[in-house]
Amino acid sequence: MPLKIFRKPRTGTATGSAAGSAKPPRAADGEVLLETVGLTKSYAGADGELPVLAGIDLKVRAGEIVALLGKSGSGKSTLLRCLAGLIPPSSGTVAYRGAPLTGANPGTAMVFQTFALLPWLTVQQNVELGLEARGVPDEERARAAVHAIDLIGLDGFESAYPKELSGGMRQRVGFARALVVEPDVLMMDEPFSALDVLTAENLRGELMELWESGQFPTRAVVLVTHNIEEAVLMADRIVVLGSRPYGTIRETIDVGLERPRDRESEAFQDLIDRVYRIMTGRTEAKETTAPAAQAAPGGEPGRAAGRPEPVDLDKRTVANTPLPTATVDGFSGLAELVAHRGGRCDLADLSDELGLDIDDMLPQVDALDLLGFATIQGDDLLLTDVGGAFAGADVQESKTLFARAAIQVPLVKLITNSLRRQPEGTVRAGFFRDLLAHHYTSEQVEQQLETATDWGRYAELYMYDADPEEYRLDEGAALL
Ligand SMILES: Nc1ncnc2c1ncn2[C@@H]1O[C@H](COP(=O)(O)OP(=O)(O)O)[C@@H](O)[C@H]1O
Ligand SMILES: [Mg+2]
Repeated sequence: MPLKIFRKPRTGTATGSAAGSAKPPRAADGEVLLETVGLTKSYAGADGELPVLAGIDLKVRAGEIVALLGKSGSGKSTLLRCLAGLIPPSSGTVAYRGAPLTGANPGTAMVFQTFALLPWLTVQQNVELGLEARGVPDEERARAAVHAIDLIGLDGFESAYPKELSGGMRQRVGFARALVVEPDVLMMDEPFSALDVLTAENLRGELMELWESGQFPTRAVVLVTHNIEEAVLMADRIVVLGSRPYGTIRETIDVGLERPRDRESEAFQDLIDRVYRIMTGRTEAKETTAPAAQAAPGGEPGRAAGRPEPVDLDKRTVANTPLPTATVDGFSGLAELVAHRGGRCDLADLSDELGLDIDDMLPQVDALDLLGFATIQGDDLLLTDVGGAFAGADVQESKTLFARAAIQVPLVKLITNSLRRQPEGTVRAGFFRDLLAHHYTSEQVEQQLETATDWGRYAELYMYDADPEEYRLDEGAALL
């Protein structure tokens, strides 16, 4: 299959902008890409056939995000696999652009809940896999992989192995691997449900920004989820699957809310309540377990009431400024949640709402504070101006803002400056390990390096090769 080229050029750490400003086509006039007619599916079980899906008539059009929503066991994954041509229906048909499927659907690529990466391959190699299967020549493969990696914010992680990556970064590889083939329809099977809440929040936000900006190299998305809020946040159309006695389409809901969507709005909350009632088969309101609307938060977005005193950087050292064990995706997700609440929110309330222990949020809070993206006032977390900008930015902008902040963090600065001083731009990890050993236990040393590696990679300040345990200067360092 001929390989289209991503609309967006590789930008390094430059601000992402203009290039792909074309909006995705709108759903209403979209061409029908996928269609099932009278689809049923049963699995062979010990006591005969187990019916899972019955009478499924479904169309997926160009320009739309369709969510398949249902409880566990309602047949969502089965339907997705039928649409992707990975399993045949028991009866009925599945067609791609009007042609009935006879095997794997050439117009789809899949993102799995469990990432499904090959541990012995690097990020770059994992991303290239999808193209290898389609017989794309080496050089074109590498070029397309670099574009996909860049698009999804994985720049700087090319040579990393999956085990070195946080869950969020691993799932980014899953996205890049699916997007690299530029499928007409991106299929996602609960792609955020193996991630912690904050990381999931961040990835959802980034994907939606890409989709809305027209940079997404696919024409439609089918998202499987059991999370009502996720469906209302992302989908143009929600297909609710009921599971008794087997999976049928209970109702299809046109979402019709403006993007980007405001979760605090009444319309958003009303829709959540409505979908909840449909899912539980209730016609009456309510007693919903869906997240309740929060009291309006104070403060304006991005405004920093009470900016902190500028930190005296000279007094911050590697010894007295440990990095919190927080991933970029984690604290980005927290920043985004606070931004949604007007740039300020009570930490205890937020952790309650997310069902998180407040202790689990503290590393992310510390990270935002350390980076100058937020301050703490009493019980509230307050985004600074730059923190507000970071939360609202697209991937490329957020990388630039993050790089500027991260380079001020002592350990990140130490690594970057040490690399700058080396003519060949590389330093063995052992060097930093020895330095840190003066101040930290060996376990803490590893934690410090792990976080500094994650941050430095995301900022594109430096890369890290696990074999031979070596840091290498990245292009981003030259820009700061
Ligand atoms: N390969 C299979 N063989 C037999 N039963 C299966 C198989 N895959 C799924 N099922 C059954 O089909 C039903 C629907 O499963 P699934 O499509 O995975 O639902 P969901 O994704 O909504 O949780 C479940 O009862 C599950 O146990
Ligand atoms: Mg499933």
